[in-house]
Amino acid sequence: MPTTPSPHSPDTPLHTLIIDTDPGADDVIALLFAMAAPEALRIQALTTVAGNVPLAKTSRNARLACEWAGRPEIAVYAGAERPLQRTPIYAANIHGKEGLTGVDVYEPAAPLAEGHAVDYLVRTLRAAPEKSVTLAMLGPQTNLALALEQAPDIVRGLRELVLMAGAHFNGGNITPVAEFNVFADPHAAEAVLKSGVPITLLPLDVTHKILTSEERIARLRGLGNKAGATVADILDAYAPQEMKHYDMPGGPVHDATVTAYLLRPSLFTGKRIHVEVDSREGMGFGQTVADWYGSLHRTPNATWIVDGDAQGFFDLLTEHIARLP
Ligand code: RIB
Ligand code: CA
Repeated sequence: MPTTPSPHSPDTPLHTLIIDTDPGADDVIALLFAMAAPEALRIQALTTVAGNVPLAKTSRNARLACEWAGRPEIAVYAGAERPLQRTPIYAANIHGKEGLTGVDVYEPAAPLAEGHAVDYLVRTLRAAPEKSVTLAMLGPQTNLALALEQAPDIVRGLRELVLMAGAHFNGGNITPVAEFNVFADPHAAEAVLKSGVPITLLPLDVTHKILTSEERIARLRGLGNKAGATVADILDAYAPQEMKHYDMPGGPVHDATVTAYLLRPSLFTGKRIHVEVDSREGMGFGQTVADWYGSLHRTPNATWIVDGDAQGFFDLLTEHIARLP
């Protein structure tokens, strides 16, 4: 039976955190969730990447999340506008052409931070105390791959990487075997997996088990605050497409499971295994090869999460969204 990974102290983690993201409906919910926990997640900045929609829109949507969370002081650095090698792909069919369904989008008051996200990652991780910074990654891993290429020494400043990425037991969501974040830039995912930094992956294997329901969305809307209504509106618009597309009883809130894992890892179970990415052209392009039974006898390089407490997740999410304006 998989053990509960415990890379943190018991349930009261304190992270110096950077969130790399391609908002994206579920990204925005993950960001609001994280920004509602300043005592546990000391967010240094957000870095954005092209993914669900092009970079200009993911960067605007990240700034909107900061405004809606009442955290306009959090810097948002725009990063890579295209993958390392492959042709860009997007997921506007799921997230809408603005990358955010169910709510009106507009130009937020706070501007983008000056400078490229990759330069921000390099200088911040070089200046950070050893193993002090947690990097949560909610989209294609292009920014970190570029930063590692430019400055391999930055691994010194990283405590751990927590990614929404990959699929094994569940199968893919963009091809039969590939999950979107990895499929959108498999070469970047390969580089990150080889970095040697402690990595926890929350793949579709777990995110497709933590699903919305009418009751769970109604509870968020019933909070009576703007943030609760915003999250409920986003989920009401986003969930049905995922439910129809993947024939599920509810919608997954993929990226928000990363925030929940940072706050309460005991909600999840998985184990350390060896994971590789297939970046060869063909049917397996973007597949995460997860060696769950150790048949390759290769050194484990990631904690692969396969299960989570769905009600515990929604309780934690709702409790945090209640704290927002
Ligand atoms: O496959 C799900 C992932 O792809 C999520 O991060 C979603 O936001 C999209 O980026
Ligand atoms: Ca995302």
